[in-house]
Order: sequence, then structure tokens, then C-alpha cells
Amino acid sequence: MAVQSTPVASSRYYTYAIGALLLLVPFLAMPVQAQADCVAKYDATVDYFPIQITVNDAALFSVRYEKNYKIVTNTAVNQTFVLTQCGTPAPNATSFANNTLFFEVPVKNVASLATTAVAFIELLGRRSTIKAVDTEGLVSSPCVQLGLTDGTITGLEDKNMTLRAEQFKSVDLVFSSMTPGDADIRNKTVLTSEVADPGPLNRAEWLEFYSSFFNLEAPAQVMTATINNNYNCFKAAANKETKPTIAWASYDAPSVYNNNTASWKLDGAAYKRILSVDAGATFFNGTSTHIFLTAAAFADAVKDVDVLIDETFVGDDIAAFYKNYDLTATSTHKFIQQKAIFREDGIINPNDGRDWFSGAIAMGDAVLQDVVRAVHPEVLPSNVPYNWLRNIAKSETKKLQTAADCVNTPTPKRAIVCSAMKGSDGSKTAAGALTGVLALLAVALSL
Ligand SMILES: *[C@@H]1O[C@H](CO)[C@@H](O)[C@H](O)[C@H]1NC(C)=O
Ligand SMILES: *[C@@H]1O[C@H](CO)[C@@H](O)[C@H](O)[C@H]1NC(C)=O
Ligand SMILES: *[C@@H]1O[C@H](CO)[C@@H](O)[C@H](O)[C@H]1NC(C)=O
Ligand SMILES: *[C@@H]1O[C@H](CO)[C@@H](O)[C@H](O)[C@H]1NC(C)=O
Ligand SMILES: *[C@@H]1O[C@H](CO)[C@@H](O)[C@H](O)[C@H]1NC(C)=O
Ligand SMILES: *[C@@H]1O[C@H](CO)[C@@H](O)[C@H](O)[C@H]1NC(C)=O
Ligand SMILES: *[C@@H]1O[C@H](CO)[C@@H](O)[C@H](O)[C@H]1NC(C)=O
Repeated sequence: MAVQSTPVASSRYYTYAIGALLLLVPFLAMPVQAQADCVAKYDATVDYFPIQITVNDAALFSVRYEKNYKIVTNTAVNQTFVLTQCGTPAPNATSFANNTLFFEVPVKNVASLATTAVAFIELLGRRSTIKAVDTEGLVSSPCVQLGLTDGTITGLEDKNMTLRAEQFKSVDLVFSSMTPGDADIRNKTVLTSEVADPGPLNRAEWLEFYSSFFNLEAPAQVMTATINNNYNCFKAAANKETKPTIAWASYDAPSVYNNNTASWKLDGAAYKRILSVDAGATFFNGTSTHIFLTAAAFADAVKDVDVLIDETFVGDDIAAFYKNYDLTATSTHKFIQQKAIFREDGIINPNDGRDWFSGAIAMGDAVLQDVVRAVHPEVLPSNVPYNWLRNIAKSETKKLQTAADCVNTPTPKRAIVCSAMKGSDGSKTAAGALTGVLALLAVALSL
């Protein structure tokens, strides 16, 4: 079978593959017809959700199962969703808080007001349920871009509110990261908080939150377990004694939004701190302050930083970088001399819609791989491809994703298989590691 023929076998790889197989076993045994579709004849004694999510990393949602319905709560906004197996009776609403929303699952038609949800739904293989998206110009997914072009997916109208209301009528559920302005859809809007969940693996585990709406708990758990294992392997590999210093910075140009006052900032977001530390770096977001009102003050603060992530939205090459921060190629900063200046726009759509705000949220392992590549490149195969973080000091280019790139297969895996890259001979290549991914996929498909 596939595992034996793989050229990248190592004991860690086997553990990894066998772990995935074990996770799939209950999936094979479960009454698939009950989960994938409506129940024809309800039986109060049947447990309709034998495969249940256990929330391990995410801090902002919970799930509880009853025989024929599940109670999913977004704890960041204190809202509960009661998801009843289609074809079975919903529980009495009087038993729940008065802002509880009730849905039948699996849901068939959804809209998304945020590009983030699109990535999670695609990973679950349920792109066909997406009927409408907002901020559609920023969607990075090639196949959703294609759907928007061929009309199978609608871009939500922004001006004609009558038409917009009509567009929402065709969907059973709307995913949104904030309370929608449209009052008439609030009673079918599921608020999601993956972006607020404070850690890369927390964010990735929201795949399980989404999966509960599609009765896809089993594959979602396999995917998050795979991401977690891969993430932890990168973390172990990058745990070196030398800890280069990394900072995530941005320049805010003078504008009507900031009283015409320029500023330079270092970000302290929890997930960036965790990614930095897990990539074997020292995280730096300032000593006494993280906001600087002159470029000189900023330059002084970051004088010992080895790797800089430039998060400035506008200005996408090294010349723009020097201009925004009032630095030059001869500045003595280590990140300049060592050519370690990265931006998050490695994967974009034709409108500069960034996959960093979409796919990257669901793929914690691939994001850590990018950060490791920035701070400890020696840990990874020398030809490892970058995803979102591209080095503008080395003129790495953006990868443009358009509708033409849509191949109707699952979302590509963006991480290499970490365990496969460090076999006993210590010289595995990225190509070898990618073969590992394909082997794993083959195992899953052969089941
Ligand atoms: C959610 O509810 C808990 C207790 O029921 C409360 O402490 C918390 O402040 C609430 N949070 C929000 C965002 O409403
Ligand atoms: C729901 O519960 C309320 C209060 O306990 C009760 O009055 C009502 O009849 C119940 N409805 C159903 C459909 O069971
Ligand atoms: C929901 O319940 C809260 C108190 O628990 C109350 O203040 C609020 O008015 C209720 N909302 C509706 C729509 O009934
Ligand atoms: C807005 O959309 C509605 C419904 O499609 C349509 O009847 C109406 O003419 C539109 N209004 C404008 C100003 O285009
Ligand atoms: C949601 O609200 C609309 C009106 O705003 C109403 O027509 C619809 O029945 C409500 N749906 C549910 C599930 O309460
Ligand atoms: C905006 O800037 C002007 C001049 O620099 C200053 O007088 C004013 O107080 C500032 N306003 C705010 C809200 O910071
Ligand atoms: C760095 O970020 C943390 C939050 O992650 C914050 O508590 C701290 O004050 C920040 N440091 C500075 C110097 O602003």
C-alpha cells in the first residue's frame, strides 16, 4: 500500500500516517447516510452524531452533543447555535437563551460576509454550498473566483439594498465575523471568531466549528490533527539555542484617519508572538512603547532586530519599504544587512486580495513553516517554497491566484510534511516531503 512504497518513510512519518488512519476508522463505521442527508425515519433512541468534536486548542467556541442535535456556542460573542439533524425534531426553543439560532444540518446553502469562512468551507470540501460572498473582490480562492465569474456564486450587492435582500433569501445561513448591517439576516447569521482566537492552532481549529454545520466532524478532526502534528514537528525542529529577534512592523501614513500624523508601530498580537516563539525566535514589540512618532525613533528601537515582517498595507517592494521607514540599503540594521524583510502578500488575487487573511488562518502549520523559513531557514530543506511570507529584500515575487488556477481538487496543502524532511540521513528535500503529503492523501483516498 501507499505507505510502504513511499520513499520518505521514517518512523515519525509512520506514526503520523497511522494516527491519521486511526482517526479515520470511526468515520468508516459511522452511519454515513444519517449524517450526509436528512433522516427518513426518526428514531429517538438513535445517536445521530457518533463522531464528536473535542475542542483542544480553540478558546472561543464549544460544542455539546445530544442524540439528534448539537449545541455550538461562540463564546466570544455568547451566541449559541442549535444544529438539529435534518429529518429529526428540533428541541424546544424555550430551553435556550433568547438569542439562540436554530438550523437544520447538514446546511445546504450558505453565504459568507468574510473571506475567512470561504477558506474553511473549501478545506471541508463544501465549496458547492457557497452561494453568495461579500467583499468578493478580495477572495483569493481560484475556484471561488471562477464561481463568481461563471455565476454559480453571487457577489453580494453593495448599493441596491433591495437586490441585496433578495440575494440573501436563497441561503439558509450566513457566516460573518461581525454583526451584519442587514437587520433582516441577523436571525440566520452565524458569527465566527477565529481571528480573535489567540494562537495559530486555536485559529486553525475553527475548522471543527465550521464542520459541525456540515456534519463533517470526522474529516475535520483528521485535518486539524494533521495540522497540529505538523505544526508541533516544525516547532520542535526550530527549537534552536540561537533565537534571532523578529518584529512585525507597520507604517501608518498621514491621513484623515490619524489627524495627518504619521506613526510606526510594532504589533503584539498573541498569534504573532506565538508563531515567532514557536519558530525559534525572540519576539520583539518594543521595550517601553510599541508606537513611534518619528522614523528615527522606530529605527532606533529595531536596531537589534534580525528579521522584520513589514505589515504596511501599501508599498510592496524594497524601495517602498525604505521610503516608508526612512531607511536605506546601507542602514546598519541587521534585517537590512542580512536581507531578512518579509511581507504577508506572497499569495494574492488580481485585486491584491490576500490569502494571508483567508487560507493562512486555517493552515497554522504552513504559516509556522513560513516563519521558520524567515528565522531559521537552515531547519528546512533549502528549496522549500514560501507561501504567504515573501522576502522583499531578496525580491521574492507574489504568487497571483486567478480563476484560471481553479483545478477542481481539494485546496492544495501548503505545508511540507515536517517529519519527512528529517529522516536518518538528514538530507530530505522539499520534493521528498511533498511526496509524503501525496502518499498520505493516497492513503486517505484508498480507504
Ligand atoms: C458572556 O456571558 C458571560 C457569562 O454568562 C459574561 O461574563 C460575559 O461578559 C459575556 N460576554 C459577552 C461578550 O457578552
Ligand atoms: C416548549 O416549552 C414550553 C415551556 O416549557 C411549553 O409551554 C411548550 O408547550 C413547549 N413546546 C413544545 C413544542 O414542546
Ligand atoms: C432576551 O433576554 C434578555 C435577558 O435575559 C432581555 O434583556 C432581552 O430583552 C431579551 N430579548 C428578547 C428579544 O426577548
Ligand atoms: C434594485 O433591485 C431591485 C430588485 O432586483 C430592482 O427591482 C430595482 O430596480 C433596483 N433598483 C435600482 C435603482 O437599480
Ligand atoms: C428572520 O426574520 C425575518 C424577518 O426579519 C422573518 O421573516 C423570518 O421568519 C425570521 N426567521 C427565523 C428563523 O426566525
Ligand atoms: C490634531 O493635530 C493638531 C495639530 O497637530 C492638534 O492641534 C490637534 O489637537 C490634533 N487633534 C487630535 C484629535 O489629536
Ligand atoms: C507587546 O505586546 C503585548 C501584548 O502581546 C503588550 O502587553 C505589551 O504592552 C506590548 N509591549 C509594548 C512595549 O508595547
